[in-house]
Amino acid sequence: MATIAPEKADGQPEYPTSPTAYEVLLKHLEMHPEDTPTHTHPYDVSRSDIYAEDRWQPIFAEMRAKGPLHYVPESPYGAYWNVVSNKAIQHIEALPELFSSSWEHGGITILEREEEAGLELPMFIAMDRPKHTGQRRTVAPAFTPAEMKRMDDEIRRRTGELLDSLPEGEVFDWVDTVSIELTTGMLAILFGFPWEDRRLLTYWSDWAGDTEIATVKDLTQEREKVLHQMGAYFQKLWMERAQEEEPGPDLISMMIHSPAMNQMDPREFMGNLILLIVGGNDTTRNTMSGIIHAFDKFPDQRKLFEEQPDLIPNAVQECIRYQTPLAHMRRTASEDTELFGEQIKKGDKLVLWYLSANRDEALFDDAEKLDITRENARRHLAFGYGIHRCVGARLAELQLRILLEEMHKRRMRVHVAGDVERVKANFVHGFRKLEVEVTKF
Ligand code: HEM
Repeated sequence: MATIAPEKADGQPEYPTSPTAYEVLLKHLEMHPEDTPTHTHPYDVSRSDIYAEDRWQPIFAEMRAKGPLHYVPESPYGAYWNVVSNKAIQHIEALPELFSSSWEHGGITILEREEEAGLELPMFIAMDRPKHTGQRRTVAPAFTPAEMKRMDDEIRRRTGELLDSLPEGEVFDWVDTVSIELTTGMLAILFGFPWEDRRLLTYWSDWAGDTEIATVKDLTQEREKVLHQMGAYFQKLWMERAQEEEPGPDLISMMIHSPAMNQMDPREFMGNLILLIVGGNDTTRNTMSGIIHAFDKFPDQRKLFEEQPDLIPNAVQECIRYQTPLAHMRRTASEDTELFGEQIKKGDKLVLWYLSANRDEALFDDAEKLDITRENARRHLAFGYGIHRCVGARLAELQLRILLEEMHKRRMRVHVAGDVERVKANFVHGFRKLEVEVTKF
């Protein structure tokens, strides 16, 4: 397969790494500091500095103590409701007709739908029933327990190879070396994507999915170029797979040969591909970094993991709860309604803060602490709830479990040993950089 990666001077393809799009964004903000929005309301948690500096916890705790819903009349994203309790988020997600996900109503993040920024690609996460049901069905068979079993060996082999290659007694960035690499590898295995080109998935995902970038109009052209490049690559892959007599087990072959695909137009196919790449990328990546950071912050829990590997499946759930790699999703009211004593108007924006629901003391004892023996860790909302609950949850859980099992097998202990840089965003919740050192236990 010919590669479409940008070329270096010597004619060899160069695979861009993830910070590229982010660096471009930062440069832009330096050039246009007046573009940086201001936030004045005390409960305006759309401000990204509180996530970058990891000081969002008391603000949400104060809101939860006062009630499940809080109205913010003014913000750089317009007016919105903060939904902060576990119960209220489940309630809203269980009523998808009343609380819509569709682009037509405003989309799935606090950010308004931005036609010029190219965010309007149709994808089923931003569709309501019945369209959502049909399109989700085209990809759901790739995530059954049987498929997970099929992928287990290859994910385990790739994970083991990477862990064996890590330097000992040397400081390195866990985000780039492990989290990005393993997540990209997992997606390449899912898609049957050419292994040598896998870093393109990371590159495309950063440009397509970074909501900060989507707000900056100057970057729109560059973004379109990158997405166009991605379209051309997948079209070629698609043609190759369509010619195969026996459909392969990978997701692209599965989509091509699914009867529902006949009703999907090419923009929808592209939109759903982006959804799968972006949906699986930052989320799994940031949980892998979150695990290491949380184990370092709670060494008693790391010790427990080292002594009792049978706790690994529950540790995966607890680490996902603790990290919550997507801080929020958004719904828009399609009718006037009353909700937990508040009057909601048609068109109101409801921001469902999973980050807060997963620290809800009404459900989780000592919620700010990592506890890998927590009995109800599974009840976290990091994958959402209801008809849109994450379709890739099993795959993410599989990759995270394998990572912990393979680390344990090698008696690997990972310490934070240098810079820790968090993502400055209100949607993706994670780490840009996490410098670590590996020792043995
Ligand atoms: C939907 C989180 C991994 C693909 C979602 C939603 C959340 C989420 C919060 C929206 C749920 C809602 O609106 O109720 C996560 C987390 C992950 C993860 C925390 C990892 C720890 C993955 C992976 C894939 C994936 C590995 C695929 C490769 C999707 C898709 C949807 C989705 C396609 C849309 C589902 C729908 O609208 O029906 N995910 N995700 N995710 N996720 Fe994930």
